[in-house]
Amino acid sequence: MCGIVGFTGRRQAAPVLLSGLKRLEYRGYDSAGMAVRNGDAPAEVVKSTGKLIKLEEKTDHGQTLAGSCGIGHTRWATHGEPTVVNAHPHVSGNCQGSGSGPVESDVVGVHNGIIENYVELKEKLLRHGYEFYSSTDTEVVIKLIDYYYKKYKIGPVDALTRTMVRVRGSYALEVMFKDYPQEIYVARKDSPMIIGISEGESYIASDVPALLNYCRSVYYIDNLELARVLPGEVHFFDLNGDEIPKEPTEITFSVEAAEKGGYEHFMMKEIHEQPRVIADTLHSAVQDGRIDLGISEETLKNISQIYIVACGSAYHVGVISQYVLEELTNLPVRTELASEFRYRKMNLDPDALVVVISQSGETADSLAALRQAKTKGLKTLAIVNVVGSSIAREADYVFYTKAGPEIAVATTKAYSAQLVAMYLFALKIGEVRETIEDIAKYLQELESLPGKVERLLDDKERLQWFASKLSNTNSIFYIGRGLDYAICLEGSLKLKEISYIHSEAYAAGELKHGTISLVEKGTMVISSLTQPDLYEKTVSNMVEVKSRGAALVAIASYGYYSIEDCADFVVYIPKTLPVFAASLAVIPMQLLAYYAAVARGEDVDKPRNLAKSVTVE
Ligand code: AGP
Repeated sequence: MCGIVGFTGRRQAAPVLLSGLKRLEYRGYDSAGMAVRNGDAPAEVVKSTGKLIKLEEKTDHGQTLAGSCGIGHTRWATHGEPTVVNAHPHVSGNCQGSGSGPVESDVVGVHNGIIENYVELKEKLLRHGYEFYSSTDTEVVIKLIDYYYKKYKIGPVDALTRTMVRVRGSYALEVMFKDYPQEIYVARKDSPMIIGISEGESYIASDVPALLNYCRSVYYIDNLELARVLPGEVHFFDLNGDEIPKEPTEITFSVEAAEKGGYEHFMMKEIHEQPRVIADTLHSAVQDGRIDLGISEETLKNISQIYIVACGSAYHVGVISQYVLEELTNLPVRTELASEFRYRKMNLDPDALVVVISQSGETADSLAALRQAKTKGLKTLAIVNVVGSSIAREADYVFYTKAGPEIAVATTKAYSAQLVAMYLFALKIGEVRETIEDIAKYLQELESLPGKVERLLDDKERLQWFASKLSNTNSIFYIGRGLDYAICLEGSLKLKEISYIHSEAYAAGELKHGTISLVEKGTMVISSLTQPDLYEKTVSNMVEVKSRGAALVAIASYGYYSIEDCADFVVYIPKTLPVFAASLAVIPMQLLAYYAAVARGEDVDKPRNLAKSVTVE
């Protein structure tokens, strides 16, 4: 996700901003920029794509930007490609062709978050004569602030509160007004922001690491609050514009701990980001009960078949999606490993749609499969997390998941975001092909998923206890039927790739055709039981392995308490529609894998032999 920094005080701002942005690099980004003011002079804006070093070179490490008040930003693209024009800061004027230089604008700002209703706001501003130079939601919100600032002429706090009431979404906003030199105004909803104060100087940042070189006394601005930041002092306001008192907090932990948000590993931090990621991905495509994936209803009506192609965990999302699409639509679906798809002599249906799922958007096998499909004239849809990545750029259609940058090699939050994207894809097809009656029921259940994931995360200590036992085993089976089998694929991979414990996901009904010979006293078998119509069948498979000495773990929905007669350890998941069960059942599987790896002292975020994105065959 994006990173924001700000400074106002006695020393030169640019070097402070660059140092803060470097501390936020771990958050992932694809472009950067800053705006600095020297007394009453207009702000000077400098922006660049790529790594921060390019911004440092452009400004000779901040030396070419005079001034002691400024804001900075590293952008993780969510709306609009990673280009100089789309990079922040954004301005209320229309002079961003070069992306750098002095701006005569009244308002200059940066933003971390997603403005969900930016399209309607842009239309409103266009009607009032505003022009736009970028394709970002941020430019819209900066110009909306300018609109209210000029219309009501009351001042920055009033302009910000009116904007906060009008926008929907998440934001950590930092804004400078031409008429208020040496001052920075901030506003927050859902995206992180903190404000640090030291002798005669004030600092703003998305996260603690960016401030720790300068101060340890910080204020946490709460949701729907705003602040006026001056050198060495800050004033907080509520949505009514009334000033509110706030006490500072002393930061006691290290920079390294701060980058992980206080978690020991990025993977655990990202596991805990899943509720927000599910909500962000859902809300990015659903407005007022309507799903919009950027594909016309005509196209969805005319496709004859769906091929889903991906690798690793993204492939597991594809296998789950096959079950979900078969349940909700009348379309034939086939999910293939990208590394297989690209070499098979498949008789592809020319009216089919090929869906490529990829977090990085750079996986070589998936990119090759996409190109293969295109050479055969098939339409392609990319479900990707990285804006502007190769797969995103080459597909005919692209839907961006809103997981933000995923640092841990083992995917968790991106997997969950991909699941939501594919649920919405299936629901949209079911709606246009009239195989679903009550779409609102499904959307309502999707809205409840973040809270249900939170409840599972609250139970993690019990899983930590069990994982310490599980970590001593050297082979584990994951079994399930139907969608539960697909869930087991991901549970097994998570365990293998970070704890190095061998495991295998098996269709529960297939065990008796050979593999059950491996089951002996003490063999651990984890079963997923989220599909009501297959529950009894899976239980009978569990009884089969138990009679051969297996130690049984069950992941079952609340209410299926009879499972305790058979399983030695049970994890219950909140009730949900069976088609969405993977989003919940995967949480305890991620946690079991994580705690087993920690118990074995492995490098959880950077497992041996693995890369975050496999860009080679
Ligand atoms: C999942 O934990 C692994 N890191 C790996 O299987 C990954 O899902 C696979 O390499 C696909 O990557 P992509 O989503 O970036 O294409």
